[in-house]
Amino acid sequence: MAARKADIVVIGGGPAGYTAAIFAAKNGAGVLLADKAKRPLMKLRISGKGRCNLTNNCTDAEFFDNIFRGSRFLRSAESRFGPQDIMEFMEELGVPLKTERGRRVFPVSDRADDVAQALIDEAQRCGVKVIKEEVKSIEVTDGRVTGVITSSGKTECGAAVLATGGRSYPATGSTGDGYRIAAELGHTVSRTYPALVPLTCAEQWCAEAEGLSLRNVRLTCRKKKKVLFSEQGEMLFTSEGISGPLVLTMSSMIAGEDIAELETRIDLKPSLDRETLDKRLLRDMQEMSNRAFKNSLGELLPKSLIPVIVRLSGIDPDKKVNGITSAERGRLLELLKNLPLTVTGTGGWNEAIVTAGGITTKEVDPRTMASKLIRGLYIAGEVLDADGATGGYNLTIAFSTGHAAGTAAAEYLKEEDRPDTEGPGDGKKKTMHAIAIDGPAGAGKSTIAKAAARELGFIYVDTGALYRAIGLSALRHGVGINDREGVSGLLASTEVDLRYVDGEQRVFLNGEDVSGEIRTEEVSMAASAVSAQPDVRAFLLELQRDLARKNNVVMDGRDIGTVVLPDAKCKIFLTASPEVRAMRRYKQLLEKGEEADYEAVLEDLKTRDYNDTHREIAPLKLADDGVEVDTSELDLEESIRAVIDTAKERLGI
Ligand code: DC
Repeated sequence: MAARKADIVVIGGGPAGYTAAIFAAKNGAGVLLADKAKRPLMKLRISGKGRCNLTNNCTDAEFFDNIFRGSRFLRSAESRFGPQDIMEFMEELGVPLKTERGRRVFPVSDRADDVAQALIDEAQRCGVKVIKEEVKSIEVTDGRVTGVITSSGKTECGAAVLATGGRSYPATGSTGDGYRIAAELGHTVSRTYPALVPLTCAEQWCAEAEGLSLRNVRLTCRKKKKVLFSEQGEMLFTSEGISGPLVLTMSSMIAGEDIAELETRIDLKPSLDRETLDKRLLRDMQEMSNRAFKNSLGELLPKSLIPVIVRLSGIDPDKKVNGITSAERGRLLELLKNLPLTVTGTGGWNEAIVTAGGITTKEVDPRTMASKLIRGLYIAGEVLDADGATGGYNLTIAFSTGHAAGTAAAEYLKEEDRPDTEGPGDGKKKTMHAIAIDGPAGAGKSTIAKAAARELGFIYVDTGALYRAIGLSALRHGVGINDREGVSGLLASTEVDLRYVDGEQRVFLNGEDVSGEIRTEEVSMAASAVSAQPDVRAFLLELQRDLARKNNVVMDGRDIGTVVLPDAKCKIFLTASPEVRAMRRYKQLLEKGEEADYEAVLEDLKTRDYNDTHREIAPLKLADDGVEVDTSELDLEESIRAVIDTAKERLGI
């Protein structure tokens, strides 16, 4: 049987997958949606107790206040397809909506099935083909998606959208397959936890109060002194612990924490401070002085909690109220303001509304949901490490990332297929030429690459400048250059780009031209340290590839031929003996009028060689299909010639 073909395969038939499929198809792509579940959109159908709280009628600021993880990452996608756009989209599909308490948006019909059916109908109208097959893996050739393997074989495609959902409610088909598929392709998947989920508690008395709902209490959770969660609202007791709105939110805030370190308290009277509450207790006790203690709390507490509090207070239940000592009253007050609970865990995946953790968003372009590691791979929805509160926020994440992924995947294919407008108009794909130059420090890469680029009319891309900009950013923010977490955290607020001014490359850090500042010895050291960090490399990868997609480039660095542009037709490994490189550097320093010691320069260079070639990620090495050009015996002119001749031969230009 001939292999099936599609432009884009969307993996997963949930809200993110359907939205991606619809918008990819609307943008001209032929889309196949693969989902193993018997019925599509199962989790959406049971969401909101079968009513589907599909978004929240809120402002952007309110939206981000309700996002727990991934808020910065989601900004771009949300700005293009946020709550208001989702509402408009649904109404256009013929599903009238209403907004309820907490700005929660539901279909007027209160039927989640109507939302599901509208998405299915729209996908069908747009020509999306749906198959009920389980996806095993994504096929990647030379760094780009070329197919999707399902239970029945392979579908050839140019792009794939991974929208398999999380692990919550596995009965609906969300079994976490996407994490494995992404991990196999090199993506980092952070540990996943059930979130928006009831909590289990050690206290047996929770079962006694099962079904009791407390309104207007304050639930607080601390880890040592740090408050992880403290909010006022509604909660309830279950046979195993606690649940309800406050508890669900708290479960998301403590995802990933060591449960044993947590201290949880309920303030049953949050609107009364201790002094006021104590006065009230005193007054009540005077009024009911002859009653038994166990019969005196009716005004203060719900019925099912009275025996619990009486027991915990250690006060004799039959004791007359007028006999209660002030120490006993103090204990009662403490229980009312600070009722302790020992959380022992969370409910399982069957009870969790959403998944915390997942594919790290650092490896995904926030504008397009494109993988920064694999060309043609897009990732959307709950499989990403992004989640928010109950109230329609998590479905909003699914819709807006699905929209971004589908739209961008279709655009990507258009770019790939764009005919060569400068060529003879034969409709052939326009392929850009790339010359990848790698090699150790001091081999003359930049001088030679620049000269070759000028002669060939290509742009010169100095990728070291990108690593230097990140190094500079770390120095400026006082983040240790070897502090992986610190540097990694910095990337979320870092924008680096290369621009060309009068044919010269300039590097910009958060909009500021730092081309001069990155050339100090201190920044060299910082660049060397940060370049060994996987997050940094992933962060810069797509930027480099994008330049090569759009331009003819001579790109120099350490991993251009091996990682950044594995498809480049011309890969040159430019090197020279350490002694020759050290001598060149030594002479340069003397010419600049700086003090220099040849032996020290040589030592320094050997250390850098060692670091570059032995680091775990993207070590410097000759690509399998690369050509080594050794310039030890060549002068500059001869070296440039050697590179240009090799390039012309390899590229056929
Ligand atoms: O080429 P350069 O000295 O400006 O590079 C600065 C640092 O960045 C250097 O320590 C190596 C590192 N680098 C890298 O790891 N990968 C690249 N493609 C380019 C540079």
